[in-house]
Amino acid sequence: KTRVAILISGRGSNMIALIEAARAPDYPAEIVLVLSNRPEAGGLAYAAAAGIPARAIDHKAYPTRETFDAALQAELDAVGIELVCLAGFMRIFSAGFVEAWAGRMINIHPSLLPLFRGTRTHEQALEAGVRLHGCTVHFVIPELDAGPIIAQAAVPVLSGDDPDSLAARILVQEHRLYPAALALVAGGKARLEGDRVVFDADVALAQSAL
Ligand code: GAR
Repeated sequence: KTRVAILISGRGSNMIALIEAARAPDYPAEIVLVLSNRPEAGGLAYAAAAGIPARAIDHKAYPTRETFDAALQAELDAVGIELVCLAGFMRIFSAGFVEAWAGRMINIHPSLLPLFRGTRTHEQALEAGVRLHGCTVHFVIPELDAGPIIAQAAVPVLSGDDPDSLAARILVQEHRLYPAALALVAGGKARLEGDRVVFDADVALAQSAL
């Protein structure tokens, strides 16, 4: 099984979805480490209770992005991490760290990329007046929220929606999409080749069910 670390900054509901999915005997990844850049992140307690080593590396204790990233890298190396999942991790990496994990680091973002990068994606979607919104799992590249797309799920924008109602509708989809996308990558069925994602021929059926 592929050895996975999940990086969080907050409540960790996507982390929980990944941990639960990885309990299935035939799931191709095992979650062996959870790290947070914020000591107060709620997800750390859940992970620890689930028996997964969970640690905070407080970014405020490091003078530069590079020294923080080096501390992360040391933790990942110490337990032989092969793949990194960002799950509500709200800190930008140095380009060097991202390049070191090229093709081996994925993120979930709460919009249908390439629309609405950055933060406040639900406000952005309401402002733009789109009738479909959603979430995206993508490989991480140095440019923020711009990496090659592995999987997406869409939800309708309904009259009367506000950012909170949209966020809640999308979060349900995030919790389905992220475990499915991680399974594709960890199982070697979706790979980064150059700046494209290449899928195994038998993946189309699984994708149609996402
Ligand atoms: C999720 O909606 C995730 O898509 C988003 O933060 C939330 C984290 O929730 N990520 C980003 O905005 C990344 N830029 P969670 O901690 O409950 O998984």
